[in-house]
This record gives sequence, structure tokens and C-alpha cells, in this order.
Amino acid sequence: MKQVHRLITRMGKSRFPVLILGETGTGKEVVARAIHNMEGRGPFVVIDCSSLVGPLMESELFGYVKGAFTGAHNQKLGLLDAANGGTAFFDEIGELPIDMQQKLLRVLQEKEFRAIGGTASRTSNFRIIAATNRDLSREVEEKRFRQDLFYRLNVMRLRLAPLRERPEDVPTLINHFLDRYGNGHRVPDDVMQMLVEYEWPGNVRELEHTVQQMVAMNSGPWLSLADLPSTLINRQREQDAPADACSSSSLPGLAMPGCSPASIVPLADIEKRAIMEAIQVTKGDRTMAADLLGIGRTTLYRKLKSYGV
Ligand SMILES: Nc1ncnc2c1ncn2[C@@H]1O[C@H](COP(=O)(O)OP(=O)(O)OP(=O)(O)O)[C@@H](O)[C@H]1O
Ligand SMILES: [Mg+2]
Repeated sequence: MKQVHRLITRMGKSRFPVLILGETGTGKEVVARAIHNMEGRGPFVVIDCSSLVGPLMESELFGYVKGAFTGAHNQKLGLLDAANGGTAFFDEIGELPIDMQQKLLRVLQEKEFRAIGGTASRTSNFRIIAATNRDLSREVEEKRFRQDLFYRLNVMRLRLAPLRERPEDVPTLINHFLDRYGNGHRVPDDVMQMLVEYEWPGNVRELEHTVQQMVAMNSGPWLSLADLPSTLINRQREQDAPADACSSSSLPGLAMPGCSPASIVPLADIEKRAIMEAIQVTKGDRTMAADLLGIGRTTLYRKLKSYGV
């Protein structure tokens, strides 16, 4: 993250295009905003290319003039106008349809565009930052992305590694999110080790949600293995499965990697965990939660009361 931070500082000083590559949840938007904020002026406009589809796409980007089409009662400025003086962040640029790629390229080359139905050219002075979780060079090779547009965007490039390639960042991030969401919560070594070894397919976003869930389940200060979401434990188990005979347990959701005494979770914790998850999943519907848990509603109420919930 320190390396990324240095790049952000350097890139923040110029107005050249930046291309940010990284898997989902690695922080592409966070980084784009940070680069923009280094300069600290003008708007930051997010243009979500995956939602820019169909006939609305061009009018969203370029705006339209009054009477340009049925329903265009007033003129409307486009996203590119809105980005004037600041940054246009083209998120999921790999999703941009090929005809729009052509139109965007023209805007970048000529630095001007025309609103739908308009005759006068407009200019907008924005910096472009684009992000994608696709392998854009491959998209270019396979002719799904225009090479000339790729060159235009790929002036400065920043690749955000998936969390599994930088496990050393995990404790820092965990502590960062504990500061933000926790209530003096702390992570003991065994739990931290589990979190560091986990592969985080959803990257920082998944880690953030995990911390939120864990602190919601535990009044603190020490978090325990029982607070880990069962999805994480299940995936961790699959991740370890080939090498680890212990994880072939037939009890879904209960197996922990490794078989040391330290990995055994008290039954009461597991029970509490299951109950809190059921309440969460059913958004507080206790009748449904009791059904899911296979216990009576009165039993559920009694247990919740004993937890002080
Ligand atoms: N370095 C970081 N420090 C703090 N929070 C981070 C960091 N990186 C990512 N996050 C958090 O993780 C979440 C996901 O980040 P972001 O939306 O930037 O990911 P993304 O790469 O754009 O993902 P996607 O491809 O799914 O859109 C956000 O809630 C963000 O605040
Ligand atoms: Mg994003």
C-alpha cells in the first residue's frame, strides 16, 4: 500500500490519463478519488460504463439540447460537462460497447463534443481516470477493446494487487476498519493469522464487510474465531482442503483449518453465531429465523434474552 501511495502522490501532480487495473474490491475507486484529491480541485464525476447501455448512453455522456428527441423538453448537460475542471472517472471501462469506445476516443482526441441534437461543439476540460477489472491488453488482442483508445488511456498505469498477493496489508486494513467500525475491539493472534491466510476473493471490500460483521456480533474487546462469518470459514476450508485432512469434516460450517486445541470453538459460541446469522439473514424476522434454525420460536426468544439481545 505504501508503494501505491507513492504512485498516487506522483500521479496526483499531473493531469495525464491514468488507467487503474485490479480485481473487484481492490480499491480502484478509492485510488481514483485519492489521485483526484491530491490536486484538490474541481468535481469528481463517476461514469459507470457498465450502466451506460442502450440509447440513453450518449445523452448521459454528452447531454442533449431541447427538442433533440421526444421527451427532451429542456436541454440537459451531460456527464462530460459536469466533469469540467475536474476528473471524469470512467469506471468499468472494459464494459464500454465498441461504438461508444469510438465516440469517447474522438472526444479525447479533439477535446470537444456535441450534445445530442446540437450543432455547436462544446468543450470540457477534464482529466480522465479509467478503471477496469478486465485484462485490457487481452481485450485489445481479442478485438473487444480498441487499441487506439487503450493507448490513450494507458498513459500512466496503476495495478492494484489482489489481497491474496499482499497478505502483509491485511493486519493494517483490519486495524484500520476496527478503528472505523469497532468499539475498542481487538483481534487475537489466532484470528489474525486466519484472516491473513484467507484468500479474500472479494478483496478489501470483503475484508471491510467481515470486520463490520465481526464487531456487530461481539461486544468486545476480544474478537474470536466464532465471530468469523461462516462463509469465510467454509471457503477457508475449501482453500485448505487438498492439503489438510482435518478439514474434511462432514459438519458444514463447523470445520476450522488445522486440528489444534486452539482451533476448537465452544459450542455456545457456535450456537450464538448461528442464531445471530439467522436473525441477520431474515432481517429480524424471528419466526423465520427460528424455522431456519430448526428450533421453536420460544426457544429462540429465550436464547436471545440470555445473550442480552
Ligand atoms: N486501501 C484501502 N483503504 C481503505 N479502504 C479501502 C482500501 N481499498 C479499498 N477500500 C474499501 O473497499 C471497498 C471497495 O473499494 P472500491 O469500491 O474502490 O473497489 P473497486 O476496485 O472499485 O471494486 P469494483 O471493481 O468491485 O468496483 C470500499 O468500501 C473501500 O472504501
Ligand atoms: Mg469500483
